[in-house]
Amino acid sequence: MRVGILGSGLMGGKLGTIFARAGHEVVFTYARSNEKLKKLAREAHGSARAGTPSEAAQEADALLLAVHWSRIEDVLNQTGDLSGKVVVTCSLPMNDDNTDLVVAHISSGAEELARMIPKARVVSAFNTVPSEVLFGVNQSKSKSRRLSLVYCGDDKGSKAVAAELIRDVGFDPMINASAVSATLKVMPRFHHELAERFAKFKLKLHPQKTFTSALRAFGLSLLPICALEDIVRFRRDY
Ligand SMILES: NC(=O)c1ccc[n+]([C@@H]2O[C@H](COP(=O)([O-])OP(=O)(O)OC[C@H]3O[C@@H](n4cnc5c(N)ncnc54)[C@H](OP(=O)(O)O)[C@@H]3O)[C@@H](O)[C@H]2O)c1
Repeated sequence: MRVGILGSGLMGGKLGTIFARAGHEVVFTYARSNEKLKKLAREAHGSARAGTPSEAAQEADALLLAVHWSRIEDVLNQTGDLSGKVVVTCSLPMNDDNTDLVVAHISSGAEELARMIPKARVVSAFNTVPSEVLFGVNQSKSKSRRLSLVYCGDDKGSKAVAAELIRDVGFDPMINASAVSATLKVMPRFHHELAERFAKFKLKLHPQKTFTSALRAFGLSLLPICALEDIVRFRRDY
């Protein structure tokens, strides 16, 4: 698959690297330095190169949108027409200092994004996992029991594409089809809460052991359970 990375930071850089190593053709785009994009492409040790959002969008079978919420308009202005394109978004609708959600409760970042690019096929994925765990999950992908990752969207084809990418990273794609729109709405809130808990937890750990200890003690496998609980709460509250 040809995968364009829109935003090559913590999430985009790591996911793009993993996608390239899984055999996809990756184009890293949208960073403040072209050198950084080239370095990512070199170090991916797969089929990867640096490019522009417009080049990536033209050629891509799938685009990963991985920029801060405040940069979405800018990056979308650079991609050109996204009609029919699969856009996998991990971007959370956070305010400038990442202290609060700017979209929640009655809508979600994914739904807002779908309104901005109505002809694209938006699917929300990877927004519940911290970037710190991605390489570790990828390294343990041969284990028989994989960690689940919730993803959601309204387009069947784009969800199939997202599911393939999720598997390539090392997760087991999990979708609660009957709660898609609720999931879309609660996911950012859930992730925000999770990120806060994760951050607090990390403070108590030796930096070298953060990933493994956090996985073991905090439990990434709790992700779908927490998400489902949140959906239940969401349905009760709204
Ligand atoms: N990090 C996580 O653990 C995590 C987890 C789940 C969801 N998310 C969501 O995923 C999205 C991306 O997060 P992230 O942590 O990967 O962010 P990040 O590391 O800051 O990456 C954002 C990318 O956008 C680029 N960028 C920012 N301003 C730019 C500008 N003016 N011109 C060109 N490029 C610019 C950055 O360039 P530089 O590389 O030059 O800085 C970077 O490559 C966010 O919406 C976040 O909420 C993050």
